[in-house]
Amino acid sequence: MSDHPTSASSPYAQLDWDAQGQPRSQLFADVYFATDGGLAETRHVFLEQNALAQRFAELPAGGQLVIGETGFGTGLNFLCAWQLFEQTAPGDCRLHFVSAEKYPLTRSDLQRALALWPELARYSEQLLAQYLAVHPGFQRFTLSSGRVSLTLLIGDVLEQLPQLDAPIDAWFLDGFAPQRNPQMWCPELFAELARLSHPGTTLSTFCSAGDVRRALNAAGFKMQRVPGSGRKWEVLKGQFIGQTTPAVKPWFARPSFNPAARQALVIGAGLAGCSSAASLAARGWQVTLLERHGALAQEASGNPQGVLYLKLSAHGTALSRLILSGFGYTRRLLEQLHNNDWAACGVLQLALNEKELAHQTQLAAAFPADLLQPLSQPQAESRAGIALPAGGLFYPDGGWVHPPALCQLLAKHPQIRLLTHSDVLELERHPDGWQACSQGQLLASAPVVVLAGATDIRNFAQAAGLPLKRIRGQITRLPQTAASAALRTVVCAEGYIAPAHAGEHCLGASFDMHSQELATTAAEHRSNLRLLEEISSDLSARLQAAQLDPSQLQGRAAFRCTSPDYLPIVGPLADASAFLRQYAKLGKNANWRTDLPCPWLDGLYVNSGHGSRGLISAPLSGELLAAWLNNEPLPLPRAVAEACHPNRFALRNLIRGK
Ligand SMILES: Cc1cc2nc3c(=O)[nH]c(=O)nc-3n(C[C@H](O)[C@H](O)[C@H](O)COP(=O)(O)OP(=O)(O)OC[C@H]3O[C@@H](n4cnc5c(N)ncnc54)[C@H](O)[C@@H]3O)c2cc1C
Ligand SMILES: C[S@@+](CC[C@H](N)C(=O)[O-])C[C@H]1O[C@@H](n2cnc3c(N)ncnc32)[C@H](O)[C@@H]1O
Repeated sequence: MSDHPTSASSPYAQLDWDAQGQPRSQLFADVYFATDGGLAETRHVFLEQNALAQRFAELPAGGQLVIGETGFGTGLNFLCAWQLFEQTAPGDCRLHFVSAEKYPLTRSDLQRALALWPELARYSEQLLAQYLAVHPGFQRFTLSSGRVSLTLLIGDVLEQLPQLDAPIDAWFLDGFAPQRNPQMWCPELFAELARLSHPGTTLSTFCSAGDVRRALNAAGFKMQRVPGSGRKWEVLKGQFIGQTTPAVKPWFARPSFNPAARQALVIGAGLAGCSSAASLAARGWQVTLLERHGALAQEASGNPQGVLYLKLSAHGTALSRLILSGFGYTRRLLEQLHNNDWAACGVLQLALNEKELAHQTQLAAAFPADLLQPLSQPQAESRAGIALPAGGLFYPDGGWVHPPALCQLLAKHPQIRLLTHSDVLELERHPDGWQACSQGQLLASAPVVVLAGATDIRNFAQAAGLPLKRIRGQITRLPQTAASAALRTVVCAEGYIAPAHAGEHCLGASFDMHSQELATTAAEHRSNLRLLEEISSDLSARLQAAQLDPSQLQGRAAFRCTSPDYLPIVGPLADASAFLRQYAKLGKNANWRTDLPCPWLDGLYVNSGHGSRGLISAPLSGELLAAWLNNEPLPLPRAVAEACHPNRFALRNLIRGK
């Protein structure tokens, strides 16, 4: 399974269980761990040969260690590393674990396998609680209250690792024995391990085969045989001594800026700002969240219900990959939200015309059935609980969320200080950091600032050139009736309607590219009611829509914030005019190669442009931002992070000679 999906067959591991209850792969005809002592083998081969106990204990204050693995399997190696980390690392350090897995276990198989290790229950329970929406591509998990990040790369390791940008400190080379899985143990894989390594990166594997040792040596690892454990006579351990080659273009490189203190201002307390604050606070940053209103989530993020809807492409576009990763991340985050404030009731997208039907047919062929399923009209009606004009595509893990509650959850952290009634009008750079002021009065200062004020980030000169547009949208609040209580899923066509929250259904939403007004209008309530009629005349009748007077209806209007390519804008900001001067030659030669450093505005970052799907893109964008800031593994493929980078517009303009 890749994130250029080609097959909708089951992506999950097919297992047999032996008499001792241990799993065995049907496909590879091999065991997941030594049947006579899996824990001891993991500890000996992977933890000890990478000297992890000592390295964890010696981490500097606020330090981190990044482990990479080929083949996540049951997660045993991960759980053992996590346990050792908690036992030995200083309290303010973090662990990142990145693991590629082509055939993830189903949740029930994972639960069964991990039940074999009661001493790891404290860790496996946390993993199992988050083990959902494990769809293709990069899937980020936040564990141990943010101290541990797990990034699963769901797909073939040879397709996934080339997309990874991560400074790996230790490799666990796992993945069934080479004779059972020869495709994986190849020079291309070893070259990728080397690309992601730096001097001092270590590697270990249970395999002691001479050709594996020689190939790893050739890739730049100095390997040696060492005694094994159990039935294994010998295993391999090694260290990277090869050359590192930075292949990244300077305008997408990681800024080398190192703030004097881990303190940040986040300007704007909607989904983007609260997510940025949460990801930084989880990493030990002191965050001041500045919001001009009297509370958070008062603008676009203030709707009563938003839909977790995946607008995917069958062609593996950057946006589609972002959506799949972002959906998984938000979906796992929601497990912490009070269940009155969201529902995993599924989302049904109706196929009301031939074009939509053809698109849905492509998607159904491209993605696994646990992500989306085509439903006939009778099946769709039985799912939704109401009469419908057509069948469609059902997303069983989707649902609705009360966005303000999600913002509250994200911003509720002892390291986050919310400053309301704080309208930042000026942002000035001083030798010791950035100062946020309002009419000359200092509101707060810090070495790092995240601009998360949707389109209004352009009011700051430093971000004025970003091409963000406002699109007004209005939702209509419809009181629930006894008959409308039958609605069991979100149903979407042009518009959408969700099962009731607090006695009301949210019906949305209009699109107006021109109006700058925030007052609701009867005309848009009327057009929303037409969207409802299109979704289901049965539901419209159940809600007695024909009797409702649009001028009396309650609703809410706000502005979406979109970019020209519909991708969010997330990452470090450069000085716009210095950027144009520095890279002017690109105007004459788009293939010009340079290592001239990017003129970054040290400490200034953006998280904006979440369009109509901030629920899916904003939380993971908080993680992406934190990864740029902390030199961590990116939670998205490099190409997707570049597609979301603030510099992409200036770069395109230069290349097009604009
Ligand atoms: C009608 C409508 C329906 C939608 N439906 C869905 C849906 O079903 N599913 C979905 O996923 N998404 C939906 N969206 C989109 C989603 O709401 C947005 O993508 C998301 O809320 C954007 O979050 P944000 O934090 O970027 O922006 P906002 O929520 O607008 O937050 C920006 C914040 O910054 C503050 N701010 C700005 N400038 C300053 C300053 N200088 N100083 C201090 N504070 C400042 C603002 O006051 C505001 O609180 C919908 C949007 C609309 C309008
Ligand atoms: C021996 S198991 C790993 C055990 C695991 N590390 C643990 O702690 O349980 C090997 C894993 O590698 C995965 N795998 C095999 N070939 C792969 C490939 N080409 N890409 C990604 N994963 C692969 C298998 O699906 C399997 O889950």
